Amino acid sequence: MNKTLVVYSSLTGNTKAVGEKIFEIIEGEKNIISIDDVKNINIDEFNRVIVGFWVDKGSADKKTKGFIKSLSNKEIGYFGTLGADPESKHGNDVRERVSKLCSEKNTLIGGFLCRGKIDPKLVEKMGKFPLNLIHPLTPERLQRIEDAKSHPNEKDFQEAQNYFKNIL
Ligand SMILES: Cc1cc2nc3c(=O)[nH]c(=O)nc-3n(C[C@H](O)[C@H](O)[C@H](O)COP(=O)(O)O)c2cc1C
Repeated sequence: MNKTLVVYSSLTGNTKAVGEKIFEIIEGEKNIISIDDVKNINIDEFNRVIVGFWVDKGSADKKTKGFIKSLSNKEIGYFGTLGADPESKHGNDVRERVSKLCSEKNTLIGGFLCRGKIDPKLVEKMGKFPLNLIHPLTPERLQRIEDAKSHPNEKDFQEAQNYFKNIL
């Protein structure tokens, strides 16, 4: 059996878009669904799961963490989108946390991160109490938000496809 499921968790569409691009290059039997529909699928039919998340507080979002924890004996690959630079310490911390989670009961085959624009509603909230105390809009943070605005872009899609072509 060689059957691949792509599951994405996405609030504003960045992660969904990356997942759809990765799905295009997967060979063999495959399916793609939102994490909200995962309860409607028989997971036993798939030996390989590619899970996509948006980064929340330095790790995979809560729904994705719950989903990964529910899996066992699968080959798992992951992709994630985040506001920060994937090559920053923050990006590496995300990789480390998610890789560890994926490896607990499953075989991790690889993970890919790219930037994703930050919801303007969140940025607005960061400017106001109480988030302005936790995430003050410093010039550095404003720059990071600005840098993320154009992502994911065609280059990110291409890199995601190349990454998964190589590991699958
Ligand atoms: C509540 C919230 C928390 C976030 N936390 C982080 C974070 O810790 N680090 C980061 O780099 N980006 C963070 N982001 C940015 C998102 O991970 C990023 O914009 C992502 O691409 C959104 O993906 P989506 O469009 O699939 O929902 C956060 C966004 C939200 C809404």
